[in-house]
Amino acid sequence: MNDSAAQPDATVRLADYRPPAWRVRRVELVFDLAVDATVVTARLHLQCERDEPLHLDGEELELLDISLDGRALAATEYRLDARGLTIPGARDGSMLETRVRIAPAQNTALSGLYLSGSHDSGFLLTQCEAQGFRRITFFPDRPDVLAQYTVTLRADAARFPVLLAGGGPDGTGTLPDGRRWARFVDPYPKPSYLFALVAGHLEKIERAYRTAEGREVSLRIYAEADAIDGCGYAMDALERAMRWDERVYGRNYDLAIFNVVATHDFNMGAMENKGLNIFNAKYLLADPETTTDDEYRHIEAVIAHEYFHNWSGNRITCRDWFQLSLKEGFTVFREQQFCADMQSAALQRIDEVGTLRRVQFPEDAGPLAHPVRPAEYTAIDNFYTATVYEKGAELVRMLAGRLGALRFRRGTDLYFTRHDGQAATIEDLLAALGEANDLDLSPYLAWYAQAGTPCVTAQGDYDASTRRYTLTLAQQTAPTAGQPEKSPLPIPVRLALFACDGRRLPLHLQGEPASVGDECVLELTQREQRFVFTDVDARPVPSLLRGFSAPVQWQYACSPRELALLLRYESEGYDRWNAGQQLAAAAYDALHAGAQDRSALDAWCATLADLFEADTAQLDPALLADMLAAPSAIELGARHDPLDPERVHAAREAIEDALAIRLGEVLPARYHALRQSESGALDAPAQARRRLQGRVLALLLRADPPFGAALAMKQYEQAQTMTDRLAALAALVRAGAAQAEQALHDFRARYDGKPLVLDKWFALQAQAPTREALARVQLLADDPAFSLHNPNRVQALLGAFARGNPVGFHRPDGAGYHYIADRLIEIDALNPQNAARLAKAFESWHRLEPQRRAAALLALREIESHSGMSRDLADILARMRD
Ligand code: BES
Ligand code: ZN
Repeated sequence: MNDSAAQPDATVRLADYRPPAWRVRRVELVFDLAVDATVVTARLHLQCERDEPLHLDGEELELLDISLDGRALAATEYRLDARGLTIPGARDGSMLETRVRIAPAQNTALSGLYLSGSHDSGFLLTQCEAQGFRRITFFPDRPDVLAQYTVTLRADAARFPVLLAGGGPDGTGTLPDGRRWARFVDPYPKPSYLFALVAGHLEKIERAYRTAEGREVSLRIYAEADAIDGCGYAMDALERAMRWDERVYGRNYDLAIFNVVATHDFNMGAMENKGLNIFNAKYLLADPETTTDDEYRHIEAVIAHEYFHNWSGNRITCRDWFQLSLKEGFTVFREQQFCADMQSAALQRIDEVGTLRRVQFPEDAGPLAHPVRPAEYTAIDNFYTATVYEKGAELVRMLAGRLGALRFRRGTDLYFTRHDGQAATIEDLLAALGEANDLDLSPYLAWYAQAGTPCVTAQGDYDASTRRYTLTLAQQTAPTAGQPEKSPLPIPVRLALFACDGRRLPLHLQGEPASVGDECVLELTQREQRFVFTDVDARPVPSLLRGFSAPVQWQYACSPRELALLLRYESEGYDRWNAGQQLAAAAYDALHAGAQDRSALDAWCATLADLFEADTAQLDPALLADMLAAPSAIELGARHDPLDPERVHAAREAIEDALAIRLGEVLPARYHALRQSESGALDAPAQARRRLQGRVLALLLRADPPFGAALAMKQYEQAQTMTDRLAALAALVRAGAAQAEQALHDFRARYDGKPLVLDKWFALQAQAPTREALARVQLLADDPAFSLHNPNRVQALLGAFARGNPVGFHRPDGAGYHYIADRLIEIDALNPQNAARLAKAFESWHRLEPQRRAAALLALREIESHSGMSRDLADILARMRD
């Protein structure tokens, strides 16, 4: 009954959800670990919920033995195909035992059990989310099957001195054949995607932690010997995250050991396996010589994110993969709150909104658009998207904002207690948040079901005779694939009104008895609504959607003068920055259109020049640094259909050049002042100083290229931190300075053997905005430090090129597309998830101007015509072409 013929890839629909017909309450796993062949013995204690034959998922498993209730099954008593195993004879209470063989060293997909590092000295590890457990053993591999895991690892002690699995240790010993065994029991029922093991040569650092509830926990971070010294910062960050979750959400850790392991071979950033988090080394390892300030912040964020999943994801998990944002959106939001508390809240918000606009908005506007809770999928790996994560986090933020901190906490407390140990849905979260506060939050569910970014338009009218200011807000969402009709959504619009002297006006909303203060939140629920403010002395300048109170696009016909006023006077850092971005976009629009009107550009440059020269004590240097940059080429490119990315880049360059020239004379003095105070310290003021210094240096290279390049070279050579060294190198490369080659050469030699540092070197060159960058990328792909097998390398070189180089990737001759298409085919044969991620770089191909569009289509056809494509890549291509 063995039939391994490939089946067509089925679409899975949320509407078809049914609870599992079979559950596994307890599972005992025994691993006989070896690099080339590992044997996995699984005993499943089965519970039948519905009269259906037992089906277990399983992929690429070599079945060695199978028995039911102690009796070996004949080949006629089960059915085996490429998707799994069906056993008609299983009964409620049966115990099924299977033995399978898998080949970790052959597993280049990095899903399931695989080898990290070399055959002789690397270590074994697992990655199971979303559907990797089925590549380890036969199992109902779905998140609503919660089981207690007992895991025994058996291995040669010399080759695998460290053996780890989730839960708590439950004995070790030596087998008659001399191998070691170690057993682990996890008392918390969990879905299979949270299973993990690690085995090999690893060092550890350890710290004792006592939870607020009084539990003693041993925090352990493991890495290979040459990396263990880089784990200290992550340990500090972990402790901060644990304290924060105790204080802000009342959540304590719940096992005696918390393990974290770093690997260089990982598809994602990190993974929250119960009691055994596994990290991509780039989000864990840090040392002052090679880690940039941005990377320090990322490490803290990812450590916190995975730790927070212990409650939002593990103790309460997802009923099915459609609910992915229940754990990811919520956990990203928690991580963002934590980061805002650890550093400047304004900078954190700028980062978040930037990511949303650069990554999520384009996704929502293109053929891959999907709701935060998708209605269907064929490859779930492809739904770990900016929409599920970042937009999902914005939805939780709206709910939290609607409730306020105290009531939100009451709501999350109810959610965590009510659903502890369960596999929950997004409705469950909204119901708990609402019921704890006698509120109906169900209107917000529509946000989870509707794809596309709403566009909100505002129109303000001031009537001097009645002293009334009328704000008309309207919303509209463009159709997306499969969703032609869109409904209005509840949109909270936070706003303040500014007088022309920069003061905030007290707000009197018509119909409200008293003043609502100098800020309020309007809730737009209809397609169009009118809000009237009374007792307004003079025509105000509205600051709308403060703090980015909803994930929407915004259209308000603000004059350059009004935006400049907000850029100058907004009290909130994010809103001030945002006003500057809007002003820069207006300047860009005029330039791109070839218009004579320079009023926006002049207003942007003049206001920034004033701020730059004003008393610096008032303005965080990091915020100033961010204000001195134009919106990204991707954000600006979103304003055009058809799109010529090279022309967008050129117009963007022109406005940054204009700013640099306007600031020209004051740049050198400021640069030198900033450099003088360099200490190499890691605290926020030192980081802010470096950020501004990097920005000023980049502007200097525009204002006075030879002088700027000389300064950059000096900064490169004398840098005390990687932040300063990399900023200098980036500025040289971007400017195409003559010294760039020498610095690049030095960098390559200086950091030879440090792959995570060389990734920055790859990425910089891949993003150099010239058509020749393609030839450079081709050359770099032959560097011995590069490998198509490693996801970090692929993202650093090819991902940076395809997503971050508007000129090189989008060469009008199509050579950039063609090159990436060829690499995609090679990568797909090794690692489908990695290929599918890179393929998304084509997501906006349909909006390109005709010549590029035709070239991109040709490249996509080339990939499609390749035989043996993975399900992940095929799904992305099919949806991009619809
Ligand atoms: N659960 C995910 C990791 C994951 C995603 C594993 C998809 C397998 C498939 C983890 O919690 C996560 O979200 N990691 C992020 C980083 C985080 C800081 C947003 C990642 O890996 O990018
Ligand atoms: Zn996550």
